[in-house]
Amino acid sequence: MRIRCVTVTGNFPVSRPRRLRSSASLRDLVAETHLDVRHLVAPLFVREGIDTPQPIASLPGVMQHTPQSLRDEVRHLADLGVRAVMLFGVPLIKDSIGSQAFDPEGIVQASLRDLASDVGDRMVVMADLCVDEYTDHGHCGVLDGPAGDPHTSVDNDATLEIYGRIAVAQADAGAQVVAPSGMMDGQVGVIRAALDAAGHTNVSILAYSAKYASGLYGPFRDAVDCAIVGGGDRKAYQQDWRNGAREALLEVHADLAQGADMVMVKPALAYLDIIAAVRAQVNVPVAAYHVSGEYAMLKAAAANGWIDHDVVATEHLTAIKRAGADVILTYLTRWFAEANS
Ligand code: PBG
Repeated sequence: MRIRCVTVTGNFPVSRPRRLRSSASLRDLVAETHLDVRHLVAPLFVREGIDTPQPIASLPGVMQHTPQSLRDEVRHLADLGVRAVMLFGVPLIKDSIGSQAFDPEGIVQASLRDLASDVGDRMVVMADLCVDEYTDHGHCGVLDGPAGDPHTSVDNDATLEIYGRIAVAQADAGAQVVAPSGMMDGQVGVIRAALDAAGHTNVSILAYSAKYASGLYGPFRDAVDCAIVGGGDRKAYQQDWRNGAREALLEVHADLAQGADMVMVKPALAYLDIIAAVRAQVNVPVAAYHVSGEYAMLKAAAANGWIDHDVVATEHLTAIKRAGADVILTYLTRWFAEANS
């Protein structure tokens, strides 16, 4: 029996997806996803008690700012068209409850006042709302026993009371958005009530809703000088990465019911399934945090010449957008803004 050889170059209709890839302009014309500097948020660190900005070895290109260098950086970002920053503070004094986080003279509150007067409505100034940078034990809340003891855990409801105070201090200082990142149950509701009671009904809440107990936060902890006493972890409050959208959506819906204006998934690249699922289920803006470890891996591989920094940076941010993130928090914001201005 003779086998007929079928050729795809015959004159029958055949699907040819390559046609639309044949020139750069055609590819641009049909591209589904576009990155825009207006949707990126730059996370920034301000440290108390330093005279000059300090580089962070594990986050090349990112600094612990002095209050003045922070102001300069934010003005520069505003001039480049960046619309938002997320502020993290590194206080001089840490204690068991993280009281510098709600002190009106605390480093973040002072910087929020500076930035409100420097950039005003040109920039959305957001404040991370948590205590891990401010506690001497390094946890995101108040402990119910001695630090380092294996039976000690974070007291959810005692922590909520602290979070409410932080929200009001940040809003009083000029934060337009507060972003609770501690993964305590009920945190959004308590913060919304505290803000409203203080007259800050226009201050928005960007909830870190689906935040995983990731190994990718290591460089961030260098940036904020945070180590958990006794070498513990955050698995008793942050999500287990063996669990997918089912648990993430439980968290997201709880935060929306309590008054979250925007929800966030964190980290980003290993959690694109979660970003896509959340985007499909909610009617609020979805943010994703491209975290310190994701940035550090990119920088390290690029520094070794193993990957092309600009190509992979663009590919990664585009993938996060394609998965459904409306807003991306990334340490690449300044690079992206400079490369595209
Ligand atoms: C908690 C907080 C963390 C990050 C943002 N907010 C650290 C943590 O949960 O351990 C990590 C961000 C990053 O890795 O870039 N305040």
